[in-house]
Amino acid sequence: MSKILITGGAGFIGSHVVRHFLKKYQDYKIFNLDSLTYAGNLENLKDVENLKNYHFVKGDIVDEDFIFNLFEKEKFDKVIHLAAESHVDRSISNPLQFVQTNVIGTVNLLNAAMKVWQKDFSDKLFFHVSTDEVYGSLGDSGYFTEETPYDPKSPYSASKAASDHFVRAYYNTYGLPVVISNCSNNYGPNQFPEKLIPLFINNIINKKPLPVYGKGDNVRDWLYVGDHAKAIDVICHKGKAGETYNVGGDNEWKNIDLIRTLCQITDKKLQRDEGESEKLITFVKDRAGHDKRYAIDASKIKKELQWKPEYDFKNGLEKTIDWYLSNEEWLENVTSGDYQKYYEKQYIKR
Ligand code: NAD
Ligand code: TYD
Repeated sequence: MSKILITGGAGFIGSHVVRHFLKKYQDYKIFNLDSLTYAGNLENLKDVENLKNYHFVKGDIVDEDFIFNLFEKEKFDKVIHLAAESHVDRSISNPLQFVQTNVIGTVNLLNAAMKVWQKDFSDKLFFHVSTDEVYGSLGDSGYFTEETPYDPKSPYSASKAASDHFVRAYYNTYGLPVVISNCSNNYGPNQFPEKLIPLFINNIINKKPLPVYGKGDNVRDWLYVGDHAKAIDVICHKGKAGETYNVGGDNEWKNIDLIRTLCQITDKKLQRDEGESEKLITFVKDRAGHDKRYAIDASKIKKELQWKPEYDFKNGLEKTIDWYLSNEEWLENVTSGDYQKYYEKQYIKR
C-alpha cells in the first residue's frame, strides 16, 4: 500500500487531485495536509471526506517541527506538493508571505523527506507542482519548453521559481528523487473567486462591474483542472526522477475574448438578454508588471507519458459556470468576511 502526502489538498487544484487519487487508487492511503488559509476549504472535499483511505491533517508547511514529526510518524512514500500562496495580485501586496509559504515551506518538506527516507529512495518521490509563470512572459510568438530559462517577473512567480530551484538542488546535491511540473492557468469548479474566471462568473451573477486589467489583450493558456489532475497522476506514476514536465491546454485566449465568451454563456444560462453582462465590462488600471502572454509546449508529457488534455474549452467553461450557479452557498461562504476587504482593497477606486 502506497502512502501519499498531498499538500494543499483543500485548495482548488489540490482538492481535484485528492479526489482523483482517492477514487482511482482505493488501495492508497491519501493524506491531505493543509493549513486552511483563505484559499483552503474542506467543503471542496465533502463528497470524499468519509472514505476510509482519506486522512486530513491540519498543519502549516512553514512549521518545521510539525512537518518533521508528521513525516517521522507517517513515513510517506510519495509527496505531491501543491500547498502555496497562489495569487499574483496578493503577491504584489505581500511578497514576504509568498517567500514564507512557497520557499521556506517547500524547503521544510524537502528536509523532512530527506531525513525520513534516509537515502533509501526506492519507490520514493517528491513531486513539486509548479507553474509556467516561472518562465516569464512571451511576446506574440513562441512557447515555453522545459528548456526555456527561468525568468520570473512577479513576486509569486519568483517564489515558485525559487522553490523549483531548491527542489532541483536536492536532486543534484543529495539524489532526492524529485519531479517538477510547470502548468498553465487552470480553471474549473472550486476555484477561489480571486482568479479571473471565478471572479468574473461571480460578478456576472451579481451584476457587478467586470474589472479587465489594461486593455484585456494579455494571453493565457487555459487547462481544465480535471485534466491537470490526470497529468499529475501520470507524472507521479510514470515521470522520471530529475525531470520537468510542462503541462498545458493548447488553448490560448486573449483575456477580453475569454471574458466576452463567459458573459455570453452565463447570460444564456441565466436567461438574460443577449449582451447584458458585456455591459459590465470595465477597463481598469493594469496589474503592475503584468505578464503579456503564457503559452506551453506540452509535447514532452504527451510523447513520453501519453497525456493529453481531454476537455474542450467550451464544455469545460459550461461545466464550470454550471458548478458556480448550482453552488451559490459555497460562493456566498467564501465571499463573505475577509473577501470583502480584499475586494475593496484590490478593486474599489482602482
Ligand atoms: P489555492 O490557492 O487554491 O490553494 C492553495 C492551498 O494551499 C490552500 O488549500 C491553502 O490552504 C494551502 N496552503 C497555503 N499555505 C499553506 C501552508 N503554509 N501550509 C499548508 N497549506 C497551505 O491554489 P491552487 O490554484 O489550487 O494551486 C495549487 C498549486 O498549483 C500551487 O502550488 C500553484 O502554484 C500551482 N499552480 C496553480 C495554477 C493555477 O492556475 N491555479 C497553475 C499552475 C500551477
Ligand atoms: P489570474 O486568474 O490572476 O491568473 P494569472 O495572473 O496567474 O495568469 O489572471 C488571469 C489573467 O486575467 C491575467 O492576465 C490578469 C487578468 N485579470 C483581469 O484582467 N482582471 C482581474 O480581476 C483578474 C483577477 C485577472
